[in-house]
Amino acid sequence: MEWYLHHARPDITVRTATPGDYPAIARIQQTSPEAAQWPVGDYSGFPILLAWIGPTAAGFCAWRQSAPDEAELLNLAVDPVYRRRGVATALLEALSVEARGDLFLEVAEPNSPAIALYKHHGWVETGLRKGYYEHGTINAIVMQKRP
Ligand SMILES: CC(C)(COP(=O)(O)OP(=O)(O)OC[C@H]1O[C@@H](n2cnc3c(N)ncnc32)[C@H](O)[C@@H]1OP(=O)(O)O)[C@@H](O)C(=O)NCCC(=O)NCCS
Repeated sequence: MEWYLHHARPDITVRTATPGDYPAIARIQQTSPEAAQWPVGDYSGFPILLAWIGPTAAGFCAWRQSAPDEAELLNLAVDPVYRRRGVATALLEALSVEARGDLFLEVAEPNSPAIALYKHHGWVETGLRKGYYEHGTINAIVMQKRP
């Protein structure tokens, strides 16, 4: 189990989640309707990084190593109470240590806060999946980050 320190926020720590963390992950996910709402058991088999502010679980990201040199960010959410403090930044920094190769994700086109976050961290838009979400009504932007 590894811990990461955000360079600018030493009170934020990140570690790999275990199934015992699923209730905390479900709680954070429920506070973030913009995130994908997975039944928490579906995370089984995927690595999850969990960020803490002191003793409180504040955010998580789920990802997978989809090929030897490609990884995919599957979901990311931060409890609204703890946003704009660098929690997602700490998670993305930990992800870049854990994952190998190019990183990919899909994000809903209207989700401007998440798109701003990813661009802030060097992700670039590489494609558009028309009607990917909500029964064909919302486009997905495909983003990529090179190591
Ligand atoms: C998007 C989200 C993960 C950001 O988490 P966060 O912990 O608040 O992000 P950080 O504090 O690390 O933000 C880092 C930078 O990203 C950008 N950013 C983050 N949130 C932003 C927002 N609401 N508006 C504009 N820019 C934003 C800023 O540049 C910010 O730096 P700054 O605070 O110094 O200006 C969070 O808002 C969230 O959980 N949203 C709901 C779930 C979601 O949309 N998930 C993405 C699914 S693809």
